[in-house]
Amino acid sequence: MQDLGAGTVCRALDTETPEARRFMAREWPLADRRLFGEDLDWTSRPVVVEARAGRELVGVAVGEAVAGMARLHDVLVAEPRQGHGLGSRLVELFCARAAELGAGRCFLRCPDTARHRRFYERLGFVQLAVLPRYYHGRDFVEYLREPLPAQRASGAR
Ligand SMILES: CC(C)(COP(=O)(O)OP(=O)(O)OC[C@H]1O[C@@H](n2cnc3c(N)ncnc32)[C@H](O)[C@@H]1OP(=O)(O)O)[C@@H](O)C(=O)NCCC(=O)NCCS
Repeated sequence: MQDLGAGTVCRALDTETPEARRFMAREWPLADRRLFGEDLDWTSRPVVVEARAGRELVGVAVGEAVAGMARLHDVLVAEPRQGHGLGSRLVELFCARAAELGAGRCFLRCPDTARHRRFYERLGFVQLAVLPRYYHGRDFVEYLREPLPAQRASGAR
């Protein structure tokens, strides 16, 4: 524990508390006004796309749309179904759904492998940076796609 004087103490907690959330809800609008000169909407909307073969879930693309951008957190296709276009379809639908929710661009991070690079660059993503030793000491790549396609995502096949 650290004592900063006048009875102020900093310490680490195991979870984000309701009090911390209330504190941020109160203080962020003030900070936004100072930083950006206006109140801003930071509502995060889930972007979730699934692929089913009959009843079986065989792939997902999951992320969020927030503040005019989207972040693709996960794209995963069941191993036996990889390499047949499903991952590409999921990412396309993810981008279209994110655009419907107001995102103008999509960011993601993926392992720095030749196959991942090929996959995302074919889909129109452009490398922004290599993130050295990002997760578990492995290099990752930060990608951006902009603009996003204007096609409809809802009810797509
Ligand atoms: C990456 C992944 C989502 C691609 O989905 P997919 O349905 O296999 O992809 P598509 O058939 O649309 O496109 C094929 C391309 O995907 C990439 N790909 C396929 N299998 C892959 C794998 N196991 N790992 C990494 N990339 C792969 C390759 O670039 C491939 O092109 P190539 O045949 O020229 O090598 C899928 O392979 C997967 O779920 N991999 C494991 C999880 C993962 O790495 N997710 C991405 C983390 S950011």
